[in-house]
Amino acid sequence: MFSAITLIFTFSILWIIYYIREWWAVWRHMPPGPYGLPLLGYLPFINIKKQVKTFTELKERYGPIFSVTMTHGVYNIHLCDPDIIADAFSRPEFLPRPDSFMFKVPFGGGGLLGNNGQIWQDNRRFTLRTLRDSGFGKTSLNDTATEDVLEVVRIFKEKLGKPIDVGWDLNIAIIRTLWRIVSGIEWGHDDPRIHKLFGMVNDALEGAGEVSLGNFHSGLIRFVPGAKEGYRKIMSLINESDALFQGEIDIHKHEVGFGDYIDRYLEEIKKNGSDHPSFNERELRLNIRSLFGAGSETTSTTIRWALHFLIENPDIQAKAQEEIDRVLGDKQPHLDDKPNLPYLEAVIREVNRMCNVLPLGVFHAVREDVWFRGYLFPAGSWVFGNQELVHKDPKFFPDPEKFDPQRFLDEEGQLRKSVPGYMPFGAGKRQCLGESLAKLQLFLYLATLLQTFKFSKPKKIFHSYIDVSPTFGLINHPPPFSLIIHERTKNESDC
Ligand code: HEM
Repeated sequence: MFSAITLIFTFSILWIIYYIREWWAVWRHMPPGPYGLPLLGYLPFINIKKQVKTFTELKERYGPIFSVTMTHGVYNIHLCDPDIIADAFSRPEFLPRPDSFMFKVPFGGGGLLGNNGQIWQDNRRFTLRTLRDSGFGKTSLNDTATEDVLEVVRIFKEKLGKPIDVGWDLNIAIIRTLWRIVSGIEWGHDDPRIHKLFGMVNDALEGAGEVSLGNFHSGLIRFVPGAKEGYRKIMSLINESDALFQGEIDIHKHEVGFGDYIDRYLEEIKKNGSDHPSFNERELRLNIRSLFGAGSETTSTTIRWALHFLIENPDIQAKAQEEIDRVLGDKQPHLDDKPNLPYLEAVIREVNRMCNVLPLGVFHAVREDVWFRGYLFPAGSWVFGNQELVHKDPKFFPDPEKFDPQRFLDEEGQLRKSVPGYMPFGAGKRQCLGESLAKLQLFLYLATLLQTFKFSKPKKIFHSYIDVSPTFGLINHPPPFSLIIHERTKNESDC
């Protein structure tokens, strides 16, 4: 009996020594960072509601590359310098997405956002080419997006003079444009189908935010309050959205000729044979999920942030309007006008810098041990291009909490060619695929809305300060706010 206990005890001690040695062999070469508690790591010390605060403190303590242990052996590594991010994300070893619940389930472990390797490369290339050929960021898309902007103008004209939240109308307009690009089909602003589609995208993103805890421990999701609801939400949405997208794909099989994304993809499947690993109907459905997941709330939330900053800074709003009046008069804004509106463009860039709609970017991962800048990134680590910390770094943006479009302009009031540290669309090989569409939409919406309306803060304060810390999720939303819309008269000076 005694010898059995001694044996178990000795074996346990040896096992613990072995385990600690193995851990230390990795840990001592990793980027610096706190370990936290045994097994639980640093998780209990992360301010969940204000992660940025935690990460800012860690950056100050450990420098621009730091690691956080999210329970024992699960590492998140943050890159907080633009050159380091661009360098890392241009290397093949940093390309993969994590093998985690969030990418496996909401994005089906595939599609443009979640795929890796050859399938990702083939689909990314195809999508960029197709969207570019069909006018992605060019004239025809300009017209498509303008239709939806003008619909928003019409709706805003019905809501003049009283405090309103504009979030809903902006979301619907952005979703409509995407749906037209994907399916070639136009659904009206009030069509229940577009509202249902928006509901699905919104719930999926909310659910993904709620299960972000599963980013580091998928097995826990079902047991964690909050995350559990997100999990359920996502599971029920997957079938619903797949049915909607498959229904549309089936219609396109019989009614070729829209020239939209689904059409072009079906042609690609035909060209390559139906059992091609990169091009098949499953990947098409997942790509559509990715386009809606990545390309709807990012853009509409940025426009909401823009209006938020503009009502807080009426002088900047008036200056942008003065430029629009001087350059365009009553002419409908067009993408070609962008170079002639440097102040508006500087406002848009400052909005992107301040709001960091994707504060931690989209996570990357290393599949094997990687040495980078003298540190070991252990296989399975998650790697974050921490945009929030880059955009708030006083080294690149002095007085970073100040909303100041001027920082993007030179002495002549022209846009500065390059502004080190500015990277809202990420960097490297997985840089945002929808960047040109997002830039087009931000420009058209803000130029048209500021040309037509003046936005002001309600006298009664519905929100007292701008809280720019990201919510615990994927997208950084502004706090709820209302604004009042006033129609501008011709050549009115708002100064
Ligand atoms: C203001 C709007 C937007 C912002 C700030 C934004 C930002 C980003 C960022 C930071 C990434 C991650 C890059 C990385 O993994 O390192 C990304 C990826 C992506 N974005 Fe955007 N995005 C926006 C709008 C859009 C739009 C309109 C679309 C498409 C319709 C889109 C589609 C995508 C896709 C598919 C990816 C994944 C690319 C890949 O993994 O290869 N985004 N975006």
